[in-house]
Amino acid sequence: MGSTHDTSVQTVVLGITGCIAAYKACELTRALMREGIRVKAVMTEAATHFVGPLTLRTLTDQPVAVSLWDDPGSSPVHHISLAEEADVFVIAPATANVIAKLAQGRADDILTTTALATEATLVIAPAMNTHMWRAEATRANLQTLRDRGAVIVEPESGELACGDVGEGRLAPLEDIMDAVRYELSRSLDLSDRHVLVTAGPTYEPIDPVRFIGNASSGKTGYAIAEECARRGARVTLVSGPTALSDPFEVDTVRVTTALEMQAAVRRAFGDADAVIATAAVSDFRPEVFSSDKVKKGEAPDSVRLVRNPDILEGLGEDKIDTVLIGFAAETQDVEQYARLKLESKNLDLVVANDVSVPGLGFGGDMNKVILVDRHGTRELPTASKRVIARSIADELSRLLCERDIRL
Ligand code: PMT
Repeated sequence: MGSTHDTSVQTVVLGITGCIAAYKACELTRALMREGIRVKAVMTEAATHFVGPLTLRTLTDQPVAVSLWDDPGSSPVHHISLAEEADVFVIAPATANVIAKLAQGRADDILTTTALATEATLVIAPAMNTHMWRAEATRANLQTLRDRGAVIVEPESGELACGDVGEGRLAPLEDIMDAVRYELSRSLDLSDRHVLVTAGPTYEPIDPVRFIGNASSGKTGYAIAEECARRGARVTLVSGPTALSDPFEVDTVRVTTALEMQAAVRRAFGDADAVIATAAVSDFRPEVFSSDKVKKGEAPDSVRLVRNPDILEGLGEDKIDTVLIGFAAETQDVEQYARLKLESKNLDLVVANDVSVPGLGFGGDMNKVILVDRHGTRELPTASKRVIARSIADELSRLLCERDIRL
């Protein structure tokens, strides 16, 4: 069932967990509402021991979700509609237990179920005893959530409810508000844009069972396609062969070879505002394709290769005002080669990665990239491909705004 709420007002779903700082969620609610944001509260059972649902109900003027077993017929707060309505999902305060459940993807109450179902960014403001905060398990759980794109608003130091003094006190309200404002500002910054993303490898067949390919998994391109769609863009994803499922709300076109990828890209390019080319396109294909499997004893000593077209370079030649973002997979002089590609392919930005570093680049979940444009170079820290996708979408949003000003 789709949500029927007023989409002109932004919605924060505020998750409250069982901790003494739960009362501060009331102040946070008021601060959000003062900025014209609709707040929908969802509470764990433990949270209701610290602050009454009626308080949140009265402050927000909205039903408060406290149980998975609320009747969805009489109440519009069941987990799927809440998950869909969230522009940002804030959990403040977040206990160590709920953080652990989120990291594991457990969904055993209304809050964790909604959090698992939402596409919105999670902003998590932990609050707990200082030893729990420092525990290795908590650190690992938070890193897992960061890698998946959650924003953690770190707690501050001070006197804790248990009498200890140290880190673990819920972050100041203004820090949480800043994080929420930032996430809300980019939650729809790509609305009305058509973004074309290429992803994965291409396979160039030698015969029905053999091909030339590479180790691209498609994770980078799929993460970018998902991020752009989440931020309101209409997204076309042209993907080479991958093991990944089609991203949610993305028009995915599956291709195999570079020539097929070129044709699909050309079809979508006409009305694209931007292209993000993450695909590892094979630069060569066998000159001859054998329609029957080549027998081992009859195999030639060598396979003659011919050049594939450079899809992105072709777009660079034809572009009028489309923003073009290319990737560069390098093993040496990364920045220098990236800058050459920026110029030679007429791009607005190159995302360069050193694919000689084990565990980064091809295949895995992590990468380290540098962003190279006409103004300079910016190195991003090692991060998950989802987190990097967010930075690239930020760059795209900036480049589109600059383009709009020029037009
Ligand atoms: O898919 P993953 O496992 O997540 O791995 C991600 C990645 C390592 C594939 C990605 O980060 C990456 O570096 N992609 C570009 C790989 C590449 O082909 O780089 P290149 O330097 O050869 O090409 C430069 C640019 O031209 C790329 O944007 C590429 O899509 C494009 N190109 C290249 C050749 C060609 N024939 N046509 C193209 O459009």
